[in-house]
Amino acid sequence: MLAQIQQPIAEELGRYTELFKASLQSNNPLLTSALNHLTRKLGKMMRPTLLLLCAREGGAITDEALHAAASLEMLHTASLVHDDVVDESNMRRGQRSVNALFDNKAAVLVGDFITSKALTEMALTHSLEAIERMAWLGQTLADGELLQLNNTQSTVFSESAYYDVIAKKTAALFSTCARLGAHLGGADGETTGRLERFGHILGLCFQLRDDIFDFDESIDAGKPKGNDMHEGKLTLPAIHALNKAADARYYRLAMRVRGHEASKLDVQELVEFTIATGGIDYAESEMQRLHDEALAMLDNCLRLTSLSRLRSKEGNVRRGPLLGSEDLK
Ligand code: IPE
Ligand code: IPE
Ligand code: MG
Ligand code: MG
Repeated sequence: MLAQIQQPIAEELGRYTELFKASLQSNNPLLTSALNHLTRKLGKMMRPTLLLLCAREGGAITDEALHAAASLEMLHTASLVHDDVVDESNMRRGQRSVNALFDNKAAVLVGDFITSKALTEMALTHSLEAIERMAWLGQTLADGELLQLNNTQSTVFSESAYYDVIAKKTAALFSTCARLGAHLGGADGETTGRLERFGHILGLCFQLRDDIFDFDESIDAGKPKGNDMHEGKLTLPAIHALNKAADARYYRLAMRVRGHEASKLDVQELVEFTIATGGIDYAESEMQRLHDEALAMLDNCLRLTSLSRLRSKEGNVRRGPLLGSEDLK
């Protein structure tokens, strides 16, 4: 599915990849070794894909759009390097995370270096709007991760607090890619706004799917499973199950998870309870709702043909996930 979506921009994605790798260079031996390690596995390239498709929709994939794509993927990469420190995660993209290969101190500094490289790339767009938006984005990503950290102290299980976190830590980056792609490609204000909204909803949908996969041992996404609860994070499936059952025993268990006091068996029990109470089914139905909403935003965006392929011939929105499990690594 992802290969199909990327097919119309395959040549530009190749140019983007060269730019991305060429920019992530340093004379420092430790940095060189960390950057080589990171660029060995480039991930799904969801954000540059979205940005370049939106630039194409706006008119053309300009050099400025390629710089913005490289910049935002660097910001994403830096946020993953830092996220693995915060989440104490030792695997990323099927290989050791930077914090596992080196240590937390090095990972913090490597993330900082990549963030600065991202700024350099964004400056090459010569667009004040793009630079301002990136500054906003950096603040929003940090805000989202901090809100998530703060939620582990909360005694309520709030869906709106969950959506607030994922809007900031994930959807903001997707909406920025769509908006800057459209803008730098030459789209009018109306199309830019519509694509920005599309990117936002796609980002929410994407994080929901990632959170659902964290429960599924059978899917190999190249990073540890069950890490969310081990890190005190309760995502939508568990939040829904806890509110639905309103059971004091599971409430106490969930609070132990949030307080990092839960044993492996506790986590396993809460996972089983979440699944049995319909938490995963609920999160999947929410994802489908967002998926339909996102595709409805593509009306009149005719050049987004690879994304429009997600519709049936009759023009109805195609049911089923935007991405298949084969797209995960
Ligand atoms: C991981 O993003 C972080 C989330 C928002 C879930 P991706 O799943 O897009 O990571 P890569 O870039 O493909 O590795
Ligand atoms: C997304 O959240 C992380 C960022 C937006 C930086 P997760 O913590 O769920 O991402 P993964 O699962 O580690 O990729
Ligand atoms: Mg994480
Ligand atoms: Mg995750």
